[in-house]
Amino acid sequence: MSHRPHFVNGLKCRLCGKMHGQQALNFCPDDFGPLEVDYDYEAMKGHVTRDSLLAGPASMWRYAPLLPLSGPATVGKHVGYTPLVRAERLGKALGLKNLYVKNDAVNHPTLSFKDRVVAVALSKAVELGFKTVGCASTGNLAGSVAANASAAGLEAYILIPDNLEQGKVLGATVYGAKVVACTGNYDQVNRLCSQIAFQFGWGFVNVNLRPFYAEGSKTMGFEIAEQLGWRAPDAVVVPMAGGSLIGKIHKAFKELETLGLLEEPVQTRMFGAQATGCNPIANAVKTSANKIKPVRNPDTIAKSLAIGDPADGYFASQLIRNTGGWSEDVNDDEIVEGMRLLAETEGIWAETAGGVTVAVTRKMVEQGHLKPDDRVVMAITGNGLKTQEALIDRIARPQVIRPTLEDFKTLLESTANAASPAAGEILAGAGV
Ligand SMILES: Cc1ncc(COP(=O)(O)O)c(C=O)c1O
Repeated sequence: MSHRPHFVNGLKCRLCGKMHGQQALNFCPDDFGPLEVDYDYEAMKGHVTRDSLLAGPASMWRYAPLLPLSGPATVGKHVGYTPLVRAERLGKALGLKNLYVKNDAVNHPTLSFKDRVVAVALSKAVELGFKTVGCASTGNLAGSVAANASAAGLEAYILIPDNLEQGKVLGATVYGAKVVACTGNYDQVNRLCSQIAFQFGWGFVNVNLRPFYAEGSKTMGFEIAEQLGWRAPDAVVVPMAGGSLIGKIHKAFKELETLGLLEEPVQTRMFGAQATGCNPIANAVKTSANKIKPVRNPDTIAKSLAIGDPADGYFASQLIRNTGGWSEDVNDDEIVEGMRLLAETEGIWAETAGGVTVAVTRKMVEQGHLKPDDRVVMAITGNGLKTQEALIDRIARPQVIRPTLEDFKTLLESTANAASPAAGEILAGAGV
């Protein structure tokens, strides 16, 4: 597996620009600004080419030279390289002629884009000598850290709010990780994790390992550009929680452009999708606010996006504005409708965050931010099997018959008369 340790300059403060060495640290000791991995793109030129990338494995690691590892990846070796689906039927329903779905609902091993960030963070944790790792999570990260840590023989502490979906909780505990559910919301859990990471000297992927972790999200952007024939799309719609993924997808396009690997200059407008019950970043964009106003009590079925005080919210809102994009939020009914539409048109069952993305894309078309001819990519980041609670009382149950032809014929007649809702149809007004 290819790697180029000398391409990383170190960790750079996003506020003052001061450089720091590669270590488990997420903030600048001088001004508490967030740290980001800084690369030597000049040194990459000539070494990182389309051919060298295409010669890599059919996983996110074909982009290893643009990731912050000093050696070969040791965790999450099969993550990424998910399908980019041409979504003609969904596009027709939404009024978009060139719509694509980047389908991380089928990512390996835990069915969300979080496997990308975890693969980088835990590989780095191993490099830095950590034996115990952990995370604060709204659900998907929990499962990914638990699974990837168990496969790597690392001890894992996973802290989550105590109101998460069964699928997310089981999907973490099954791997033998120590899962701790805390009363309170994600922001409180996250604060506790900062204390734990520094008190015990453990590697928490989205706390002290965050600069490395966040870089993993770039691979979604690299793959999108490669799959579009080395072109950045006109627009990407991305679900936002902490606000990191949206920035990293755009950073990926810009890095490929810097290396001269794209057919055209990057002019991608970035669109951020949130739930109305937790919309701090969308709200800042819509009100042209320069500060993120935290949402104290998030209340939405899109629990994976329920981060009231997003770590990268400011940068996400600036990026959305600077690229000519926009942000919106959608309510629970719209989220369910979005999940159903994606499933019924493309055969892709996304989790609630996917419903948010589809429903916000629809709003962007209605508001004129997305034009019919735009080449649009929707980031579908998690799998519907993990958020069954969101649908269970809103989708018609199968009709029960005796196993006889007579009963089946009667059933056909009754559905032809439309007396009862067809399977898959949403029961009007059913609560969640
Ligand atoms: C399914 C899903 N989509 C999107 C996101 C948003 O990612 P970010 O926190 O980088 O904005 C998350 C975060 O937990 C998630 O679980």
